[in-house]
Amino acid sequence: MTELTGTQALAVILALCLAGSPAGAAELNDSATKQMRSGLAQLMENPPLGLPQAKPPRPVTQASIDLGRRLFFDRRLSFNQTLSCGMCHIPEQGFTQQELATPVGMEGRSIRRNAPALYNVAYRPALFHDGREESLEQQIFAPLLAVNELGNPSIGSVLQRLRRISDYVTAFQASYGEGININTLSWALADYQRTLISADSPFDRWRFGGDADAVSSAVKRGFTVFNDSGCAVCHLVSEDYAHFTDHRFHDVGVSRGGIQPIAKLQVAPGLMIDVDGEAQAEIAPTKPADLGRFDATGRIEHRWKFRTPTLRNVALTAPYMHDGSLPTLDAVVDFFDRGGDHPEADERILPLGLSERQKADLVAFLRSLTGSNVEQLAADARTAPIGDRLSTGRNRPVSKRGQDALAPEGY
Ligand code: HEC
Ligand code: HEC
Repeated sequence: MTELTGTQALAVILALCLAGSPAGAAELNDSATKQMRSGLAQLMENPPLGLPQAKPPRPVTQASIDLGRRLFFDRRLSFNQTLSCGMCHIPEQGFTQQELATPVGMEGRSIRRNAPALYNVAYRPALFHDGREESLEQQIFAPLLAVNELGNPSIGSVLQRLRRISDYVTAFQASYGEGININTLSWALADYQRTLISADSPFDRWRFGGDADAVSSAVKRGFTVFNDSGCAVCHLVSEDYAHFTDHRFHDVGVSRGGIQPIAKLQVAPGLMIDVDGEAQAEIAPTKPADLGRFDATGRIEHRWKFRTPTLRNVALTAPYMHDGSLPTLDAVVDFFDRGGDHPEADERILPLGLSERQKADLVAFLRSLTGSNVEQLAADARTAPIGDRLSTGRNRPVSKRGQDALAPEGY
């Protein structure tokens, strides 16, 4: 595969901006765009160094990727046609959102959790921080219907809206030999997201490619700290590939919401003291409790547990943890170094006593996990037209009451 350099990718983005009307992008036919787009299909077949082959439930075609990409960035998927998937999963921000710990959805309603980066989502057996969905095909209904996300009152209303757009009718037929229905809509969004595969990082080239010069000695030392500190017990690195996750759920001691018996209070940067939780709640607002995996299983032992996230591209996907409470990788390393912020965390999360140099090395290692094609994936994403309000038919006014009554409160 010919790789676009950062400058070439930027040139494509610029060209798209200059193209003016959003519809112009759909017509883009030049060879750079075509080449970039076919890159995604190739990623499925020949995964980059450091990842095994993804196994999609059905063959992913160029037509279905193109359709899914278009839907992903189409604001007409939301009730008032203002919000798209790509506005919370922003390609240039690692397919997540960096400005906000927890994103804001429909009509300014906040979501209680941090948006996960969508790189390598094809490999995840359980989706969401609590793992409550098992496939990308099922997952899409949550954002489409959640009142604080795309805010649609029903799936039927989304399908009806899409069926009024003749381009889509043709594209769905061409991709799946079927019209627009619940299945084909979920297939298209899933097919695109599955292709967001990213690896071949400097770490991969060193560890799996045998290139001793691919990373600095700080990164190599950092990998030793990573293993010696027990990080790799949960963020797994296998013999010939690495997902950096065990796909399981743990409580690593992220400070809990609600009123706690003992709360950690930061009195100076890095200096935490234990205070009476009830007393603290009186002086500072507490964040709402998030029971994590318990929400998906109802099992008491699953309270406060969250999915182990992959560490691939982690340098691009701040802020961190399910609630976005840690702003930088340095903050995450400090967090693990002090043994988390909650006394009842997993027994493997203990104070580490790392030196300043070991902490810096660990961060250097985490920074070496950025895939070589991230700019390419972002540039590819921007070849999608930004679908906007329907040109035909009147826009239905957004009725707050109607929405609240019909759409469930989502994540
Ligand atoms: C308003 C912001 C917002 C919008 C719009 C949005 N998402 Fe998300 N997305 C999130 C948040 C927050 C989560 C995590 C929720 C949780 O774990 O409970 C998430 C989770 C996901 C996940 C699970 C990823 C993983 O690693 O578990 C996928 C896949 C996803 N979204 C795809 C989509 C698609 C497709 C759309 C459009 C149909 C969409 N999102 C629209 C914020 C958003
Ligand atoms: C017991 C399993 C376990 C161990 C050991 C562990 N982690 Fe994690 N790690 C997790 C889980 C679970 C989360 C997510 C917590 C959350 O969302 O609240 C996480 C989150 C992270 C994140 C944030 C990623 C993101 O996208 O938000 C980083 C970075 C990280 N861990 C690095 C490390 C490092 C470095 C070590 C060793 C010092 C380590 N982890 C040890 C399970 C573990």
